[in-house]
Amino acid sequence: MAGVFITLEGGEGSGKSCLIEALSSWMASSTLPHIVTREPGGTPVGEKIRELFLGANTMGPLTETLLLLAARVEHVSAIVEPALKRGQIVLCDRYVDSTMAYQGFGRGMDIEPLWKLATDVVPLLPDLTLYLDVPCDVGFKRVHKRQQERRDRLEAEELSFHERVRSGFLAMAAKSPSRIVVLDALQDKETLFLQAQEHISRVLYAS
Ligand code: TMP
Repeated sequence: MAGVFITLEGGEGSGKSCLIEALSSWMASSTLPHIVTREPGGTPVGEKIRELFLGANTMGPLTETLLLLAARVEHVSAIVEPALKRGQIVLCDRYVDSTMAYQGFGRGMDIEPLWKLATDVVPLLPDLTLYLDVPCDVGFKRVHKRQQERRDRLEAEELSFHERVRSGFLAMAAKSPSRIVVLDALQDKETLFLQAQEHISRVLYAS
């Protein structure tokens, strides 16, 4: 089987991590060769960039973007592409749609030049993107309950920022419906898992 690149996206508190864990367990028990990775991160230099990016230092949207792209170049060349070449499924927690939603719609960078920059630097696009949609006030409550004072720089942004991010994800899903699937993250975990599994199976067995 050829490798398949699957990304998971969602706002704060959408339950992405839980779903990735469940999908990885399913793949392990079905002997589907896969790796789980994340952005920003996934490599030693990517994890250092993640710390810098999520830390307390203020930085402009272009600096954010360039840091994220630097991490992505490393991640894709060292982890994602080699895994796909080995025929593995890559389950990646966030990717280019986060850049568009957070730096584009959230921070206000112009969408078309940002897309061009991001895809010129790293042209690889996912075969499937699952976007876990949750109303921002619900996601916020989940994150705040969980983390109290341990919120990172993005989680600490105001509600209006997260509303723009959510609208951005939904706009991109409407523009690329064959790649980006919107899942209702308010559903119970089992239903959400079954829906994600169905979309992934469709892509796996089409390849
Ligand atoms: P998370 O992976 O724990 O959700 O945290 C990563 C944070 O980084 C999240 O707030 C979204 C943000 N982010 C961007 O702003 N742009 C990007 O391109 C990526 C990959 C993540």
